[in-house]
Amino acid sequence: MSLTDKFGRSIHDLRISITDRCNYKCVYCRTGTNGAAFAELPFDDYLRMARILVSLGITKIRLTGGEPLLRKGIVQFVRDLAQLRTEEGLKPEIAVTTNGHLLAEIAQPLKDAGLDRVTVSMDAVDPEKFARITRVPHGYENVLAGVRAARQAGLDPVKINCVLLRGFNEDQVTAFGKFAREENVVVRFIEFMPLEEDRVWTPEIVVPLDEILARMSEYLPLQEIPHQRSETARRYRFSDGIGEIGIIAPVSHPFCGHCSRIRITSDGKLRTCLFSVWDHDLHELMRRGATDDKLVEFILQVVGKKEERHHIGEPGFVPASRTMVHIGG
Ligand code: GTP
Ligand code: 5AD
Repeated sequence: MSLTDKFGRSIHDLRISITDRCNYKCVYCRTGTNGAAFAELPFDDYLRMARILVSLGITKIRLTGGEPLLRKGIVQFVRDLAQLRTEEGLKPEIAVTTNGHLLAEIAQPLKDAGLDRVTVSMDAVDPEKFARITRVPHGYENVLAGVRAARQAGLDPVKINCVLLRGFNEDQVTAFGKFAREENVVVRFIEFMPLEEDRVWTPEIVVPLDEILARMSEYLPLQEIPHQRSETARRYRFSDGIGEIGIIAPVSHPFCGHCSRIRITSDGKLRTCLFSVWDHDLHELMRRGATDDKLVEFILQVVGKKEERHHIGEPGFVPASRTMVHIGG
């Protein structure tokens, strides 16, 4: 079984946000002023959705947030997800994207539960700069410990996501190159997209792929290596063979044509694109007692509506109906 949209794209990556709470207030994401309101479902509800989607052709599940490690019970949830099997009898790959603050303690239990990989968001390798971006004091030490614990637990390849913002951290590119080599992690630089709560995005703040490459080449030459079509990142190896970096360039080099993703928000809505202006209430249908067959029918209809591409930077750009923290990244 495979899920295919009307543009012929195979949808095999599912991202489930398990909370929209976060313990950081990164300048490019959250203002942290929208009170205590948050949306979470019981894990069994996400599990049912995941089971049905895996039966339809999903082969990779990524847990996101908010900050997913804030949810008590995530280890058991991963254990339950790890029992799912595709029609071919394969276990879906399971990954988490986290800010890493709480990772050190839980990396090994997650691995033991069946987690395959972890991606840690980290926007500076300098503790003061890190604090200025995350607006939390002393986070850097925790995150570094989390990254090392993830490596120790064998959650490889450990990837680091670094959103570059002009005026904040574009000077961190070479330091991250060094970090990738020393810590044996894949550092991926991300172009900033207009999905933040306080609407500060301008094209000028984006640090584009070409500039990242130029900055890194001043440190060491790079060689591009092949990436899978549906992968978000272009991949590069340092020319001496030690260390890998990636660049995720949705603004300067959109990859919508190969998009393989569908998302479940923490309140149980299906989203077909980060930039969708609507979402589809799968949870409401479940709450009303829909059978699995009804849910399948609904999911197929929703996949049929997946957008062709985003319109970042174009004159008629309409902002997404949710910000990143309420979508899940
Ligand atoms: P891998 O399995 O390691 O390839 O992970 P991934 O790249 O799918 O997941 P990750 O959560 O690390 O995503 C990296 C970043 O790519 C996200 O934080 C977003 O900034 C960006 N991204 C992910 N999916 C999309 C998408 O569908 N559209 C756009 N425009 N950007 C995306
Ligand atoms: N543009 C690009 N990436 C973003 N992230 C959060 N907000 C944005 C944005 N506006 C990244 C985070 C995290 C992942 C889930 O998305 O840094 O790594």
